[in-house]
Amino acid sequence: MTRDISVLGPLNIDLLIVGEGPKELSDLPSWDGPAEMTMTAAGSVGYTVGDLAKLGLGVRVVSNVPDDPLGLFIIDSLKRDGVDISGIQKIPDTEAGIGVYMLLFGSRKRPLVYRLPTHSAWPEEYSETAVNKLLDARILHCGGLLHFKDLWCGVTTEIFREAKNRGITTTLDPQFPLFIMEPPWMRAMGDILPYVDILFCDETEARNITDRESLPECAEMLLDSGPGTVIIKQGAEGAGIYMNGQGYFQKAVHLGDLVDSIGAGDAFDAGFLYATLQDWPLEKRLLFSCVAAGFTVTGVGGTDTFPTIEEIESVMVKYS
Ligand SMILES: Nc1ncnc2c1ncn2[C@@H]1O[C@H](COP(=O)(O)OP(=O)(O)OP(=O)(O)O)[C@@H](O)[C@H]1O
Ligand SMILES: [Mg+2]
Repeated sequence: MTRDISVLGPLNIDLLIVGEGPKELSDLPSWDGPAEMTMTAAGSVGYTVGDLAKLGLGVRVVSNVPDDPLGLFIIDSLKRDGVDISGIQKIPDTEAGIGVYMLLFGSRKRPLVYRLPTHSAWPEEYSETAVNKLLDARILHCGGLLHFKDLWCGVTTEIFREAKNRGITTTLDPQFPLFIMEPPWMRAMGDILPYVDILFCDETEARNITDRESLPECAEMLLDSGPGTVIIKQGAEGAGIYMNGQGYFQKAVHLGDLVDSIGAGDAFDAGFLYATLQDWPLEKRLLFSCVAAGFTVTGVGGTDTFPTIEEIESVMVKYS
């Protein structure tokens, strides 16, 4: 069955430790909580595919997980969200990636510690049947390409090339390397960009990919490398969209106090992919994405706080 979206990218576990930590270091030894921990299916595409399914889209994910209880947890969580998990491979004798977020001391986004997976993030080889299944979709999206060196410049580029041959819309949110790498990061992704229609990145990533400072300059360089559309997410500020000769900025939509911004970028991507499939004008696509992301930052974690279409639309009417 043709899906709306096929998604390629890493899945891992996020452990979110949430509560109020002591304000002074001297209070730490006597601090006895309270703090709560939740475990979620995450990774560069875990929240995105959950969000896409919540929007009612047919979404298939192709990825690797370990053949152990953590791998099963990821698969079960996504299945419950309505994601087609038949493209997830269980790799024996490997360990899942785990991100631990200690949201007790004002930190709202990046993990405190991270355990890298010991398996390849997504398959490195595909049968003809697997390629046909993956590309039986209206959009092919990849998240987290820059995270793992072993997946640069190889089979993923070939799959994107084939997707373009078949007239499928291709989208990429490369994220960032999970190790120290000097800019420009472009050298790790220059080969795939000619086959990308829509590129998502945040402002830090845009600067590091291009080794440029001003965002319009970054966008110009990225557009020159292949994608017809470049979107630069700017956190609490909003997001800008750049196309040859056209640009537009949407301010972030603030819907309450910031709890954490985990999964905000993924929610934004999911919103924009949904809106692209509806063929809406650019301004409406960006507003939809910013409202969707705006909801997720007002609660703990990613997909659990992702809104319904009705909730997004009820906010959008106030902006039109
Ligand atoms: N504090 C905030 N208040 C309201 N909206 C926000 C806030 N932070 C982020 N957003 C919304 O989420 C979008 C994406 O956030 P961000 O720029 O952090 O993406 P990202 O860096 O790709 O995120 P991620 O860490 O999930 O990959 C922003 O463009 C904005 O619309
Ligand atoms: Mg991001």
